[in-house]
Amino acid sequence: MVQTFGCQMNEHDSERLAGMLEADGYEPISDQTQADVIVLNTCCIRENADNKLYGALGNMKQLKDDNPDLQIMVGGCLAQKDRELIQQRAGHVDVVFGTHNVHRATALMADARRDGPITEIWTAADTDDPFPSALPARRQTDYAAWLTIQIGCDNSCAFCIVPAVRGAEISRPPEDIVSEARRLAAAGVTEITLLGQNVNSYGRDLAVAVRRSGGTGIRVRPAFADLLLAVGGVEGIRRVRFTSPHPKDMNTEVYQVMAGTPSVMPHLHFPLQSGSDNVLKAMHRGYTAARYLAKLSEARETIPDLAVTTDIIVGFPGETGEDFERTLEVAAHAEFDSAFTFVYSPRPGTEAADLTDRFCDPAEVKDRYSRLRTVIERSALQRHRAREGRVEEVVVEGPSKTDALRLTGRTGQNKLVHFPKPEGPLRPGSYATVRILEGRTQYLLGELVEVTARASHRTRLVVL
Ligand code: 5AD
Ligand code: SF4
Repeated sequence: MVQTFGCQMNEHDSERLAGMLEADGYEPISDQTQADVIVLNTCCIRENADNKLYGALGNMKQLKDDNPDLQIMVGGCLAQKDRELIQQRAGHVDVVFGTHNVHRATALMADARRDGPITEIWTAADTDDPFPSALPARRQTDYAAWLTIQIGCDNSCAFCIVPAVRGAEISRPPEDIVSEARRLAAAGVTEITLLGQNVNSYGRDLAVAVRRSGGTGIRVRPAFADLLLAVGGVEGIRRVRFTSPHPKDMNTEVYQVMAGTPSVMPHLHFPLQSGSDNVLKAMHRGYTAARYLAKLSEARETIPDLAVTTDIIVGFPGETGEDFERTLEVAAHAEFDSAFTFVYSPRPGTEAADLTDRFCDPAEVKDRYSRLRTVIERSALQRHRAREGRVEEVVVEGPSKTDALRLTGRTGQNKLVHFPKPEGPLRPGSYATVRILEGRTQYLLGELVEVTARASHRTRLVVL
């Protein structure tokens, strides 16, 4: 079994790990006590990820005592960061591997069976191909796929551990991205999400490489907007999404491509982090609240019917009550469709983690957090109610998790719609129009209007 703890990049790696194990003859199961191999794919972006991992590993000690043949493997960002520490804290772990050597996981498993516990962490420089698309992937769905366009991050947000763990930005060559999109389309995928730490700075490093090699291409830097256009134009791809862009690098060109390419979905995840200029400065975000809002207005003016979501951190070191009021104001003004809200968590090795004398009072942070949720949920509900009566196309995800008599679909704006199951099967990956009957804070309720494209039955294992 493969357990995932983190972001979309992490989930995508888990799909690769599951694919590799399946290619080696393993079958996925959900009962830990029956597993021969358990892979924990970790994340280190917030502190509770560490606690969760070490908690999960603690619980697995007994499993390993009961079944000495069980192999426990730990990969991902936290493994990349903690390295040998993992086996020091949990001696029953057989293999520790990093984000740059996911493709080595099954080989390491065999080595560990023979030679005992192994920690192997690579950097980007150790690998010829930082984007190993030749790995099999066991995707969670047949119709939707992640496509990594860039790894690493060249920014230095004061709260964030990612640059230290994942290293400098590396962009994947555009032709490789487009050919992977074509292969995915040929395998039946209709929705692609482009993944990167900072997708809209895509190509910066490639431009440097072109200049160094003396190339004189007319366009020195392949821009993210070009890539969106190219992937959006791949036959069979009905929906393109991306996550996450950085507001400071966002430009009009991207908005224009979003507006002018029907397959690029009208949803922008636009991480605000804070609404206070003082805090934004201390975070090194590279924009002010006014600049953020100006970019957002331009996006909304250019892209019809745009949904906007965000990330906000509460309690960054030194955040005052005044600073937090600014965050509430900006969030209210921005009218987000939804938001991931986080309590600041110090990550050792980051700039902000050293500001211990400026840490906020936890009780105060808790109070701010719930006030922020109220503001976010107010705009979410308003925006969802405003959709009542519309007819929207959804991709069918499957039965609703809470009501077996309903199906769940996802709209272009990335919203969930629950609607009564029709007579006869409607497979996941089918497209249908639904009428929105009621907007709730987290989702919409609707009724089926018409099936627009039926998904055919396919094998779930796709080898790219
Ligand atoms: N504490 C709290 N939230 C964090 N994030 C990143 N680092 C931290 C941290 N140390 C949040 C940011 C980012 C999202 C992926 O996680 O909001 O956009
Ligand atoms: Fe972290 Fe900032 Fe890079 Fe995002 S842009 S990964 S928050 S350093």
